[in-house]
Amino acid sequence: MSTPAAGSVFESDWLAEREAIDHRSRSAGLCAAVCCHLSRRSSPTVTIVDLGAGRGSNFRYLAPRLPGPQHWRLLDHDAGLLDTIEAQSAGLAPADTLETQAIDLGADLGTAIDGADLVTASALLDLVSPAWMDALAARCAAQGSALLMALSIDGHIDFDGPADPLDGLVRAELAKDQQRDKGLGPALGGRAPAQLINTLSAHGFAVTAMPSPWRLGPADADLVASLIDGWRGAVATRRPDLASTLANWAERRTHAVIDSEHALSVGHVDVLGVLGAG
Ligand SMILES: C[S@@+](CC[C@H](N)C(=O)[O-])C[C@H]1O[C@@H](n2cnc3c(N)ncnc32)[C@H](O)[C@@H]1O
Repeated sequence: MSTPAAGSVFESDWLAEREAIDHRSRSAGLCAAVCCHLSRRSSPTVTIVDLGAGRGSNFRYLAPRLPGPQHWRLLDHDAGLLDTIEAQSAGLAPADTLETQAIDLGADLGTAIDGADLVTASALLDLVSPAWMDALAARCAAQGSALLMALSIDGHIDFDGPADPLDGLVRAELAKDQQRDKGLGPALGGRAPAQLINTLSAHGFAVTAMPSPWRLGPADADLVASLIDGWRGAVATRRPDLASTLANWAERRTHAVIDSEHALSVGHVDVLGVLGAG
């Protein structure tokens, strides 16, 4: 496989840190809706493909909640992340029902999603382009797969309490950074949920979207510190002239959240598309 594009490689520690927050933020209603959809399928085993599976967070959330026997195919270009999944998921699925595959999602997905009853992903769609999303939706429509795309950022970053003079600049620069090409075309960033809703609708899916925001406070201190520092770093790369101003902003904002003055909300959306409903 060729060298992964800049911005498409994620630290295992960061993915581990966010897993519990991702799980508590997801829409239980959409998960129940996908269960209902899958339990109407005639096949005895449901085949589920997880795109950009990382270290398996989406699998660990969905597998215990979905009905009946399941066969999982977990795809990612980072073989090191995929290698951790089995050990992290003890007791969730017998090894023969869990397959991992190191694959570049920018290559033809071809057989990788063949026969999937459900194609799913979490925290992936901000990295993809409209063209990539359209091709995925077309393929899923052609083979009758449902899609459940969880935790796509929608661009909202809201600190409770008074605004900081630098918040606006950070949001604007971050939005530009999120739209850089990360190997799958010009990235959608925070436009991903709206684009997904339109794309799935255009391909004949019945679409339901539910908010799944991260609500962060003092109990999430480690994640808050990593997240805000990540934002600081991304913006400082674009605006090196503001490096020290941004460092001060990051310190102020991290302390404000951790010291419980101002909770932080980071907008995400979960989207389900099913065919043949109604
Ligand atoms: C933000 S992480 C989310 C991981 C996991 N779904 C989760 O919720 O923890 C995005 C994942 O997409 C994978 N990824 C990014 N670009 C990719 C590509 N072109 N091909 C395959 N995987 C890719 C990364 O390796 C990473 O594991």
